[in-house]
Amino acid sequence: MSSEPGSNEQMAPGKAWDAALYESKHSFVWKYGADLLEVLAPQPGERILDLGCGTGHLTAQIAATGARVVGIDNAPSMIEQARKNYPDLPFELADGADFAFAEPFDAVFSNAALHWMKRPEQVAACVWQTLKPGGRFVAEFGGKGNVQALIDAAYNALEALGFPTRREQAPWYFPSIGEYATLLEQQGFEVSSALLFDRPTPLDGGAEGMRLWLKMFGSALMNDLPAEQQQTVIRQVAAQLRPAFYRDGAWIALYRRLRVVAHKAEVVEPLLLRYSAHTDERW
Ligand code: BEZ
Repeated sequence: MSSEPGSNEQMAPGKAWDAALYESKHSFVWKYGADLLEVLAPQPGERILDLGCGTGHLTAQIAATGARVVGIDNAPSMIEQARKNYPDLPFELADGADFAFAEPFDAVFSNAALHWMKRPEQVAACVWQTLKPGGRFVAEFGGKGNVQALIDAAYNALEALGFPTRREQAPWYFPSIGEYATLLEQQGFEVSSALLFDRPTPLDGGAEGMRLWLKMFGSALMNDLPAEQQQTVIRQVAAQLRPAFYRDGAWIALYRRLRVVAHKAEVVEPLLLRYSAHTDERW
């Protein structure tokens, strides 16, 4: 997918994703996703769903391989921008935890979006339903410990200003390998690989990088605050993080990614039934 602002179920009503800011200052999101395309290895003619497609850049790269791709995202501004970027490709507004298609897919792909979807069981159920038997699910998103220093700094700043926080109720879903593989297995998937790895990520925007990142992605923590106080929090977060995460004019965010490949295993006909169907023998 292309991107990130997939399903932000935590977003305040009426708060729309700033697709222009996303396009201009956060291109690293889909640039890193290109790596995941190699894992997907789309084949010409395959039908592929890009779950949380954002502004459509990875959807387009999938289409360029000759696969037939559909992009979905629950943010109207992202879908609007994706349609502008790639008018020949199909993009649809849909909730990642509540979607269905009449024609099944060979693969579901998702880059940097699942951490916005706070009902992961329902998401896995939708992915399962939409895949053909034998189909694959290839996804990468924030894993356990993702941007932890940044989140801690934001909570510290909010608490120092006297705002109540609920640290145990993070607005994102960053599971461990064990947690997510178990969830997929409970849905019926066979998980063939799961990898949790660090990806220190230089932020776009130079000295402004942290402010821009917090403006784009941190609003889920600050939605209830007036704009002026949001600026105060952003300044305090930057001050806390600067010694460790600002070097030579650039900010680094310590992303940690969870990459999974899972299959909807084909139901294998029980051997005895197959045998008896092809012989006169009765057991
Ligand atoms: C991430 O892509 O890892 C991320 C996005 C938004 C908030 C936190 C993390």
